[in-house]
Amino acid sequence: MEQNQTSPVRWGILGTGRIARIFCHTLQALPQAEIYAVGSRSQEKAESFGREQGAAVHYGSHAEFVNDEKIDIVYVATPIGSHYGDVKRCLLAGKHVLCEKAFTRTSEEAQELYALAKERNLFLMEAMWTKCQPVYRKIMEWKRDGMFGKIQGVEARFYTCATKDHRLMKDKNQGGALLDLTIYPMMYACSLLGYEPKHISAMAVKGKDEVDVMDSIQFSYSDGSFASLTGGLACQRQVSLYIHGTKGRVLLEQEHFYKAQKASLIDWDNQPIEEFDGAFSVDGYEYEAIEAMECIRRGRTGSALAPIEETLKLISLMEECKKQWS
Ligand SMILES: NC(=O)c1ccc[n+]([C@@H]2O[C@H](COP(=O)([O-])OP(=O)(O)OC[C@H]3O[C@@H](n4cnc5c(N)ncnc54)[C@H](OP(=O)(O)O)[C@@H]3O)[C@@H](O)[C@H]2O)c1
Repeated sequence: MEQNQTSPVRWGILGTGRIARIFCHTLQALPQAEIYAVGSRSQEKAESFGREQGAAVHYGSHAEFVNDEKIDIVYVATPIGSHYGDVKRCLLAGKHVLCEKAFTRTSEEAQELYALAKERNLFLMEAMWTKCQPVYRKIMEWKRDGMFGKIQGVEARFYTCATKDHRLMKDKNQGGALLDLTIYPMMYACSLLGYEPKHISAMAVKGKDEVDVMDSIQFSYSDGSFASLTGGLACQRQVSLYIHGTKGRVLLEQEHFYKAQKASLIDWDNQPIEEFDGAFSVDGYEYEAIEAMECIRRGRTGSALAPIEETLKLISLMEECKKQWS
C-alpha cells in the first residue's frame, strides 16, 4: 500500500499521556506529517488533547478511532499491557502502526501481530527511537567496520526513581523495570553482540504485585563475549553504556546513551580515533517518525533501521529473563 508522495502523512495518535504529547511535539516540526486524529478512552480527553495538538478529529472510543479511513498510520502510545489489543485493532482496521516500546508482554502476542501485519501487507514497527538516531547508527557502522576490534563486553544500566504509585510500580501487566527501562541496555547489547546469547542469567528484586523493581541480567556468548545489564525503578537516575572492544571504546557526551547526540571512538590510550556529532534536528523522536513515514510511502511492511524481527527476538529474551525470576 504505497502512499501519495506529496500530501502529508495523516497520523492518528492513540493515547493522550506523556509520550503521546512529546511525540506530537515532534510531529509538529515535520512538514511531511499531519496530526490528524486523536483516540482516547474518554471523549473529554480526546477533545482537549486533540485541540491542543491541532488534530482535525477526536475520538472518545478506540473502536471509532481505528475505523476512520483517513488515518494513514497510528502511533500507539498506550501502556504496555494495552499494546497487543490496540495494535491488533489497528491492523484489523487496515492501519499501519508505530507502537511504543515494549511492543508486547509476550512472544506469542508479538508473533501474532507480526503475522497479521504481514498477512495484511501493513507496516509495523516498535517505536525503538534509539535505533533510528544518528549516534546509534554511527556506533553500528563502527562495529560493522571493525573499528572496535573484537567487542569483548557490553555493560549498560538504566536506573530511575519512580514513586510508589507510578504505573510501572503498581501493576505487573503495565510495566516493571524490564519492559520499560532494562529493555534499552538489552537492546544495545543485542545490537552489538547478537540476539543469541549462549547463556542467560537473570535476577530481579520484586515489589508490589510481583513487579520487577530492579533487574540484573548477564549474557554470555559462544565467542567469549559478555553483557552485564541492569535496570531499576528504585534508584537515583543513572544511565550509562560501556562498549569494550580490543581496539577501542566509545565515549558518549551524554550519559543517557539511548538518546546520545555525540560519540567519540577512542583507543585504549585515550587517543581519539573518530568523533561524531549527531545533533538532533528536533528532539530525537523525529528519526523514528521519518523512518515510519518513509517506509509507508515506499510500501514497506517493516523498517530496516528497527526491524520488527529484532523486536520479536528481544521480547523472547525478555520472556526468558522473566521465566528465570518467576
Ligand atoms: N520512547 C520513549 O522515550 C518512551 C518514553 C515514555 C514512555 N514510553 C512508552 O510509551 C507508552 C506510554 O507511556 P506514557 O509514559 O506515555 O504513559 P501514560 O502517561 O500513562 O499515558 C498512557 C496513555 O494511554 C492511554 N491508556 C489506554 N489504556 C490505558 C490503560 N489501561 N491505563 C492507562 N492509560 C491507558 C491513556 O490515554 P487516555 O486516557 O486518553 O485513553 C494514557 O494517557 C509505554 O509503552 C511506555 O513504555 C516510551
